[in-house]
Amino acid sequence: MEAERMAPEPGERGAARRTESGVPIEPVYGPGARAGWDPAERLGEPGSYPYTRGVYPSMYTGRPWTMRQYAGFGTAVESNARYRQLIEHGTTGLSVAFDLPTQMGHDSDAPIASGEVGKVGVAIDSIDDMRILFDGIPLDQVSTSMTINAPAALLLLLYQLVAEEQGVPAASLTGTVQNDVLKEYIARGTYIFPPKPSLRLIADIFQYCRTEIPRWNTISISGYHMAEAGATPAQEIAFTLADGIEYVRTAVAAGMDVDDFAPRLSFFFVARTTILEEVAKFRAARRIWARVMREEFGARNPKSLMLRFHTQTAGVQLTAQQPEVNLVRVAVQGLAAVLGGTQSLHTNSFDEAMALPTDTSARLALRTQQVLAYETDVTATVDPFAGSYAVERMTDDLEEVTLALMARVEELGGAVEAIERGFQKGEIERSAYAVAREQDSGERVVVGVNRYRLAEEDPYEPLRVDPAIEAQQAARLATLRAERDRGEVDAALAGLRRAAEGTSNVLHPMKRALKARATVGEVCDALREVWGAYVPTETF
Ligand code: 3HC
Repeated sequence: MEAERMAPEPGERGAARRTESGVPIEPVYGPGARAGWDPAERLGEPGSYPYTRGVYPSMYTGRPWTMRQYAGFGTAVESNARYRQLIEHGTTGLSVAFDLPTQMGHDSDAPIASGEVGKVGVAIDSIDDMRILFDGIPLDQVSTSMTINAPAALLLLLYQLVAEEQGVPAASLTGTVQNDVLKEYIARGTYIFPPKPSLRLIADIFQYCRTEIPRWNTISISGYHMAEAGATPAQEIAFTLADGIEYVRTAVAAGMDVDDFAPRLSFFFVARTTILEEVAKFRAARRIWARVMREEFGARNPKSLMLRFHTQTAGVQLTAQQPEVNLVRVAVQGLAAVLGGTQSLHTNSFDEAMALPTDTSARLALRTQQVLAYETDVTATVDPFAGSYAVERMTDDLEEVTLALMARVEELGGAVEAIERGFQKGEIERSAYAVAREQDSGERVVVGVNRYRLAEEDPYEPLRVDPAIEAQQAARLATLRAERDRGEVDAALAGLRRAAEGTSNVLHPMKRALKARATVGEVCDALREVWGAYVPTETF
């Protein structure tokens, strides 16, 4: 049947979806949705539907995964130095960590920012900071991921503006903004606006990138943070894919053709030490997503069906006890990601359970990937577990549990409705509690923590962020505000507020404001005035 365009009417959530001619569509993830699906077709070939074995025919035999180490701290100066160091050590992609004030849309000199400036990532207040962040880094020769969600549009535009200053056209820029605010409501917490305007802003980014920055990955739909909060592998992929379905529905409802934006959707998962289960998880996720995109949304472009993803090794499995043991854990987790067909990988530093990585531990983390890529033979074969009884069975079983969870979210009315009822958060908290009890009882071994402990730990000196950087950032902001054309900034912010009140794409007036040196806090405050700020519903 020629798949027809359809999108749920507002308020129609949970009801059986229908094609434009009213034919009911059985959800891909309804009970028994896999029944009768020929095993050979379920497995398929690498680079072919349903992509169980990987998204590219040649996978790493054609090109190794991108070694993309998440980094950022202090001011733009310190982070720029770390990126140049990583490039010198052989990293093949950049990944920017922002501090919490930036992630929450506050300037470094805002009272709420005190104590957090430059702490968990780099402080970016304006185009001036962004220019320093990428000083000496040619943006036409590197792909950059930015872990930014609620203010993703601002950081994307600042990146484009700095690239324009370097003479790099937007059409050649490659990279990703995480831009996945739904998981922030579920697990991570760096949301700003309520779900409706947040989803509007995400759809605006999809539309803007389609015409202005066509090679940019517009979203990194993340399961990592839900996994780190305690989600099981099935919960991780079920809730992530359910978020993905919500984003696709939003963009289709905004009038976009699914093949106009779906090729630039991407995903982000964790890799735990349970290698076989993680490989099965990645394979099941690719197969489910391919079916959902083809059968529910009628996507025709093969790139719309491919689940391309980044992986980070499991931060929660790092221990502060005997931290050198983390080197082994990260190597095993990195192997799981690669055997599972990841497109991009971050390997954690062994000391991250205690503090920010030092230069040495950051280099060791990257070297771990280089050993996997160039000293092992995992890049010589595509999907080496294909046909394995254990992994194929685990893939099928994980797929079954995942489909049932996705059907449950659908019954609740989709990801946003389920979030507002606290469903995903509640499920994850129950899983986290079960794991904690198993660890407390010793049933789940954590080497060095509940077994094989040391009477006395070796001494360790962590890297500390200089508290003086907060005053430095505040001084830079005072200079910026004194130098810029206040009238131009006010006019641009007024235009942004008008766009936010209406239905036009807010990224164009937002770019004008940022180019006039409006700050991240000022732009987000302008949007807060129009859209308000999200207040979470208490689940307990
Ligand atoms: N055959 C043919 N082509 C191939 C190929 C092969 N074997 N391998 C790669 N290619 C091509 C691809 O098609 C692509 O070309 P295109 O851009 O024209 O489509 C190009 O080579 C690059 O390949 P990928 O797109 O596969 O790899 P990238 O690294 O560029 O992109 C991604 C990977 C997953 C799609 C992208 O979204 C990405 O890089 N994501 C990273 C997300 C990230 O780093 N997040 C960090 C989060 S940290 C965090 O959240 C905070 C903390 O709390 C954890």
